Amino acid sequence: MSPGLFLTFEGPEGAGKSTQLARLVARLDQAGVPHVVTREPGGTPLGTRVREVLLDPALSIDALPEFLLYSASRAQLVVNVIRPALARGAVVVCDRYADSSLAYQGAGRGLPAALLQDLTGVVTGGLTPDVTVLLDLDPAVGLERAARRGQPDRLERADLAFHQRVRAGFQALAARDPARFLTLDATRGEDELAELVWATVSAQLH
Ligand code: TYD
Repeated sequence: MSPGLFLTFEGPEGAGKSTQLARLVARLDQAGVPHVVTREPGGTPLGTRVREVLLDPALSIDALPEFLLYSASRAQLVVNVIRPALARGAVVVCDRYADSSLAYQGAGRGLPAALLQDLTGVVTGGLTPDVTVLLDLDPAVGLERAARRGQPDRLERADLAFHQRVRAGFQALAARDPARFLTLDATRGEDELAELVWATVSAQLH
């Protein structure tokens, strides 16, 4: 059992995860709550290198190696960053985590859910988030928002049907575990969303 609190943000492209994550971190700062902010893929020197490979539009990566690369980044992050922070009693806020693999490599690419779940159990040592904020958005809208930010990365270049399966994958995960997931309509106003996230997170702080 870890004394800290493990929070993740999930959702399809362009749903405003990073904005909401920053809003939450500002509230944690104000409240003086010790916290660590990280992301996937990334968060460690290895993860940062793996991230460059995963997002490189020049590379073609098959579904299984894609999952294994995300898993490599995740395994290092859990051991080096997330578990030590939780053990110190900190709040860990992570931009994407294992649910992204189930949605993107499972629902999106078609890898079997059982395989992904089994391997993810090994990769994370069974560490699951206490709260997952799912920002749900139509991928047609999200991809357009993401496109305004610059050149699309390798995942953003996948077709709309792929991104629709990803969204449905996230929705299915949330429906199966409503105690963990806070699902929010990402078209709601930024302030309103930030309040809803804070209401859930602050209720878990003690
Ligand atoms: P990132 O720039 O972090 O995307 P976003 O800002 O949308 O979160 O890039 C991460 C990409 O990797 C994103 O397209 C989602 C994808 N991804 C997976 O396909 N599987 C995973 O396990 C994770 C963590 C991310």
